[in-house]
Amino acid sequence: MLGIETSCDDTGVGLVQDGRVRVNLVASQTLLHAEYGGVVPELASREHTQVLDRLTARALEEAGVRPQELDLVAATRGPGLVGPLLVGLGYAKGLAWSLEKPFLGVHHLEGHLHGALVDVSVEPPFLALIASGGHTHLYRVEDWGHYELLGATRDDAAGEAFDKVARTLGLGYPGGPEIERLAQEGDSQAVPFSVPMRGRAGYDFSFSGLKTAAVRFVQEGYAPADIAAGFQRVAVASLVGTLERAAQDTGLSRVVVAGGVTANQALRASLAATGLEAHLPPPGLTSDNGAMIALAAARRWEREGRADPLTISAEPYWPLGESV
Ligand code: KG4
Ligand code: ZN
Repeated sequence: MLGIETSCDDTGVGLVQDGRVRVNLVASQTLLHAEYGGVVPELASREHTQVLDRLTARALEEAGVRPQELDLVAATRGPGLVGPLLVGLGYAKGLAWSLEKPFLGVHHLEGHLHGALVDVSVEPPFLALIASGGHTHLYRVEDWGHYELLGATRDDAAGEAFDKVARTLGLGYPGGPEIERLAQEGDSQAVPFSVPMRGRAGYDFSFSGLKTAAVRFVQEGYAPADIAAGFQRVAVASLVGTLERAAQDTGLSRVVVAGGVTANQALRASLAATGLEAHLPPPGLTSDNGAMIALAAARRWEREGRADPLTISAEPYWPLGESV
């Protein structure tokens, strides 16, 4: 199974066989976009176009798989940036068509979820929390394909908050790993951050206030390491606290947590301390990658045995669980 992920600024090509990841290559565009302070969609599309064919050839070569041996070809269909999505989708369709193999268009968040479940066999019902640069969404998953949105961020996504606070502290992009590193040198109680939305009903999140608070704390002269540690403490507390409350209210103690922010060790430690049955992606499958798309496609193929027509479009805006 070949999975292609090009929804944003990383080109991902992954090969999965019998539920195991054989090869998972990611070509990062971080440096390309760094000087613009954000992802430039047109540049991202162009870079995906230049890289994708070579990266796919390398992935096949590393796995020792000939194109004809692939049993299906999958790509992210959405949500994401439309140009980058079209590059991956078009490439995957062309490859599937020329090899006469089934083609599947995958929801990016379903990819993240299946990346977290690569080594385990977990069936719904469970709670699913996706915390990435673009999403902070909490779902109740009653059955595969049936997602009830319990809560979401009202402003910035969790990863976006890490990125913005990192920038405030003069750190590099992506901000998550930078904040995590600096936080280790800081005192997480030294700066009076408060956990956003604490005490509110419902399961929504809000992270933009933390960025504003961080700017103020910098002006007030708090040490950057203490700001990083304090921010990380409350961001994690918000994610884990809300998840725990949802678990209690729904009676679902099995949770799947996915998305780039799950690389964060403080988040992992905090989740482990809850007593919830938490499933997170292994290293290499936390950030956007092709293997997670192949894994999601493989599961759908097993369940439904139905390919997508080559006429399907990219879906830049696509709420999880909604048909398009
Ligand atoms: O899932 P992902 O690779 O891409 C999206 O679909 O958005 O997530 C990227 C996000 C970035 O905002 C990045 O700062 C964050 O995940 N991230 C982290 C860590 N590593 C990556 N956040 C906190 N701690 C980390 N160690
Ligand atoms: Zn993602």
